Amino acid sequence: MPNDTGPQRGQDGSSNGGGVPYKFEAHQLTRVFGHGKRRVVAVDGVDLKVRDREIISIVGQSGCGKTVLAKMLLRLERPSSGTLSFDGMPIDAQRDPRAHWRRVQAVFQDPFSAFNQFFTIRSQLESAFRLFETRPAPSEIVDRVDHALLAVNIKPKEIEGKYPFELSGGQMQRMLLARIFILRPQVLIADEPTSMVDACSRASILDYLMKLKDELKMTIVFVTHDIGLAYYVSDTMYIMHQGRFAEHGPPDDVTLSPKSPITQQLLADIPDVHRDWLGRDLPGQT
Ligand SMILES: Nc1ncnc2c1ncn2[C@@H]1O[C@H](COP(=O)(O)OP(=O)(O)OP(=O)(O)O)[C@@H](O)[C@H]1O
Ligand SMILES: [Mg+2]
Repeated sequence: MPNDTGPQRGQDGSSNGGGVPYKFEAHQLTRVFGHGKRRVVAVDGVDLKVRDREIISIVGQSGCGKTVLAKMLLRLERPSSGTLSFDGMPIDAQRDPRAHWRRVQAVFQDPFSAFNQFFTIRSQLESAFRLFETRPAPSEIVDRVDHALLAVNIKPKEIEGKYPFELSGGQMQRMLLARIFILRPQVLIADEPTSMVDACSRASILDYLMKLKDELKMTIVFVTHDIGLAYYVSDTMYIMHQGRFAEHGPPDDVTLSPKSPITQQLLADIPDVHRDWLGRDLPGQT
């Protein structure tokens, strides 16, 4: 069900209400890799506006540019052209990217790549506090890590002394979410956060995401190839194809009256298991 607890919308859709700047605002954002025959336009002139506490999803097939766009929002990838601002300021206005990473954090497709295999999970969760301007006392760090683990349904004892390779993909994805509980960013970029888990864990990870949104009052950019999941979690859906946005709008509009053939294709591709999981027919289906 689309989330309707989002912020107020300006009448013309161009304002965040009361002059509050958008969390993200992109204009003609483009990222090109390589030259000549190897030239790839991964993101091709996209316009994007994300309001505070809004959940947007970027939906599209493999290779359409979702992760490259997400990385630009995270300041991990530089735009080739176009503009991108965060809270009304150019995204690279501050020299130290850690200031941005305190506010914007990510959960990626492959949770193992986000953790170092040579350090215990706990030590890595504790090291998340390095991003803080003022580090809490060691005993408080331990308490806050425990609290974050419990928040994602992991008993602290379960991971005691364990290394990333000793956990399953699903557990590691929950470790990434625990890290988010610790860092309490304003914005979470969730790039295929349920790619490694079964349908049941997928539902619980989505529940955690919703809990994060409610508890931490976060803005979420949800990246997925699965339009069914996007419909379930988002306030606004952006359909991406070959580096561009084919269409965007509230989930009901996009799925009930899709304007782009790409959207129709994505709707036709919804796996049956998700239909069962959602427990009802999805829009766009007859
Ligand atoms: N560092 C890079 N160098 C060259 N090309 C790249 C680089 N990163 C991404 N690309 C290309 O940019 C395009 C978009 O890639 P991206 O990873 O954003 O796709 P995606 O939509 O996230 O796909 P998936 O659903 O499979 O994760 C692809 O053609 C990819 O090969
Ligand atoms: Mg990707």
